[in-house]
Amino acid sequence: MSVNPAIVSAANEKSSLKIPGHIGIIMDGNGRWAKARGLGRAEGHRAGVEAVRRTVELCISYGVECLTLFAFSSENWRRPPDEVNFLFGLLRRFVASDLARLMRQNVQVRIIGDRASLDPGLRAVIEDVEAKTAGNTGLNLIIAFNYGAKSEIVAAVKAIAAKAAAGEIDPAAIDQNTLATHLSTVGLPDPDLIVRTSGEMRLSNFLLWQSAYAELVFVEENWPDFDESVFVRALRAFTERDRRFGGIGT
Ligand code: IPE
Ligand code: IPE
Ligand code: MG
Repeated sequence: MSVNPAIVSAANEKSSLKIPGHIGIIMDGNGRWAKARGLGRAEGHRAGVEAVRRTVELCISYGVECLTLFAFSSENWRRPPDEVNFLFGLLRRFVASDLARLMRQNVQVRIIGDRASLDPGLRAVIEDVEAKTAGNTGLNLIIAFNYGAKSEIVAAVKAIAAKAAAGEIDPAAIDQNTLATHLSTVGLPDPDLIVRTSGEMRLSNFLLWQSAYAELVFVEENWPDFDESVFVRALRAFTERDRRFGGIGT
C-alpha cells in the first residue's frame, strides 16, 4: 500500500505538539485587516466570524478541551455606536446561524462578561444557547463578551464580601480558591496558552487572574487570517516553552 508522505509528515507534526487544555485568544486586527483591503471595519468583523468557525474546528480536531475567545471588551464601548451595534448584532447572528452546527459538533457554549447591561433580547439569546448546549460533552467554547477582567474580579470580591458580612464566609478562610470560584470562569481550568493576533503585545484586560501562569504567544497575522498554519505555529511555540511554575524546570 502506498502512503502519501505529505499526510504522514502532517500527522507526525501533529503528534509532536503539546496540546494545551485551555487556549485563550485575543482576536485582534479585524479593523486593520479590512483597512488593508479598502473595506469597512464591519467587513473585518464579518471575516473574523469565519476565523472563529475555523478555530472551533481546529480546536476540536487537535483535541483542545477549552477555547476562550475575547469578542468584546468592557472598554470596547469607547468605539463609535455603529460599530458597537454591529458587534452586538454579529454575536446574535452567530448564535442563531451556528447553533445547529455547534450542536452537531457537541460544543458546550458559555458566555462570560457583564450581561446585566446587555439588552434583554441579546440576554435571552445568550441564555438560550447556553441552555441548549449545556448537555454537550465536547469542546468548551467560552465567549468573552462585554468582558473585563478587572470588573470580573471586583464582582467576585463584592460577592465574597457580601457573604462575609452575612456570616456565610469566615474572612480568615478566604483563599485563592474562594476567589477563583466566584469568577465567571468557575469550573474551567486556567488557560495554558493565550494567543493574541495582529502583533499587539498586551492583555487588554483579558483573564488577568486566570492567566497568571499562561504562556503568551503573539502572532503578526490579523484575526481574519488566523488559520491552521498560524494555529500550529502557536502550538509549536507553546510546545517549546519550559513551564516552570516557579520551580527549576525540566
Ligand atoms: C478585534 O479587531 C475585534 C474587537 C476588538 C471587537 P479590532 O476591531 O480591534 O481591529 P483593529 O485592532 O482595529 O485592527
Ligand atoms: C482587545 O482588543 C479586545 C478584544 C479582542 C475583544 P482591542 O482592539 O479592543 O484592544 P486595544 O484597545 O488595542 O488594547
Ligand atoms: Mg484592536
